[in-house]
Amino acid sequence: MPEIFVARSEDLPEGGRVFVTANGNQIGVVRAKGQLHAYLNICPHQGGPVCEGLMVHRVEEIIAEDKTYQGMRFSEDDLHIVCPWHGWEFNIETGRCAGDGQHGLKRFRTEERADGIYVVV
Ligand code: FES
Repeated sequence: MPEIFVARSEDLPEGGRVFVTANGNQIGVVRAKGQLHAYLNICPHQGGPVCEGLMVHRVEEIIAEDKTYQGMRFSEDDLHIVCPWHGWEFNIETGRCAGDGQHGLKRFRTEERADGIYVVV
């Protein structure tokens, strides 16, 4: 399968992102939680540039043992990327939509080698 050079490893630090074009499509490559993730930069909702969105931790409700609501907090585990058009959120590790798991981002395989990062298209 064809591979496209993305960047030197040092040019894509934690939290960073780079865009490459393959077959006329833009792919966003991010390094998050120590891993590389590459997704087609097209949101399944209405085609927005999802990979350009903010990365934020999932908001979760705090429920006490007595089942009372205690407020909200940011998850320490789940990191989401938020589409800038209408706010759909996608888990950065799986690409699945947080609000509706039937939707997801198109994922590409990445490889990190001595000379840099590649995406397999
Ligand atoms: S196009 Fe991404 S949320 Fe609507």
